[in-house]
Amino acid sequence: MITIIGAGRVGASTAYSLLMNEVDTEITLIDIVQGLPQGEALDLNHAAAILGKSVTVKGSNDYKDMEGSDIVIITAGLARKPGMTREQLAAQNAEIVAGIADQVRKYAPNSIVMLTTNPSDVMVYVLYKRLKFPRERVIGFSGALDTRRLAYYASQIIGISPSAIIPVVLGQHGENMYPVPEASMVYGKPLSEFLTKEQMDEIVKKTIQAGADITNLRKFSSNWGPGAGLTIMADAIKKDRKTVIEASVYLDGEYGVKDVFVEVPVVFGKRGAEKVIELNLNAEQRRKFMESVEAVKNNLKTVPPQYLQ
Ligand code: NAI
Repeated sequence: MITIIGAGRVGASTAYSLLMNEVDTEITLIDIVQGLPQGEALDLNHAAAILGKSVTVKGSNDYKDMEGSDIVIITAGLARKPGMTREQLAAQNAEIVAGIADQVRKYAPNSIVMLTTNPSDVMVYVLYKRLKFPRERVIGFSGALDTRRLAYYASQIIGISPSAIIPVVLGQHGENMYPVPEASMVYGKPLSEFLTKEQMDEIVKKTIQAGADITNLRKFSSNWGPGAGLTIMADAIKKDRKTVIEASVYLDGEYGVKDVFVEVPVVFGKRGAEKVIELNLNAEQRRKFMESVEAVKNNLKTVPPQYLQ
């Protein structure tokens, strides 16, 4: 069973995407708002009946209903409004994430837990400290999204499918994100060889701004991309695929960094985030990566200390 905590836009889109792809036969949606997860579940069950999907969705306001989950996806919390940065949500969302972590620890102690709640690299740190699960089982979203955004923008210029591109984005999911087109590949050839310097700068900028662009256009933040990204992660875990997907994971010496969650390429399998892939960064790339890491560390300082132990 896969449980999604937070039946808002990201939670509902994730449930729909998991259902469409039949990643599991049972999905549970939990939210604190009465009726919301139950209503979403009913609608999703109708969608499953129409499309002939063998998936049952349950909606609940009771955290106990996550019992038996092998994957828990946390999409609960405040989302940014136009003009806000993700970092500004840290203090308020830390309280929500810490409270949910206590429930997950109680009812799904063997689960693999993924989280979108922003600022995600900071919130997943709060989650990790509170859950006290092994690091493989605590995973922050959104490298899967940021990398594919980079691939999408590049594909629009060079006319090659995004699926042919292996994109690299490192560090923070935020304004200090570090997209690396020189390390991204099109079938073994660096992406930078397909693009001019100006085009590279443009896709980097667009990738960093993508979330804000969506929020500014429609006045609420992204949900379809996150739902799709969480689906490939859950699917890779469920089927032990050993797929390489970027995610925010706890670094314990990899990339010369300790005690921080940032986006890096990771092997996904039945144990969760099984292995970090370490890229060889040159001096300039390393400097930019460390700047991004520092931004996450600085944002952590805005979280009340009781949520960091
Ligand atoms: P939303 O406002 O549509 O939904 C949030 C839901 O969380 C609401 O239904 C609310 O009732 C629920 N909730 C709040 N506290 C809860 C608790 N203690 N237990 C259970 N449910 C609770 O927001 P949306 O758009 O779904 O975004 C959710 C989070 O994901 C936000 O923090 C947002 O910034 C983040 N996000 C992260 C992305 C990423 O790439 N990491 C991408 C998009 C959103």
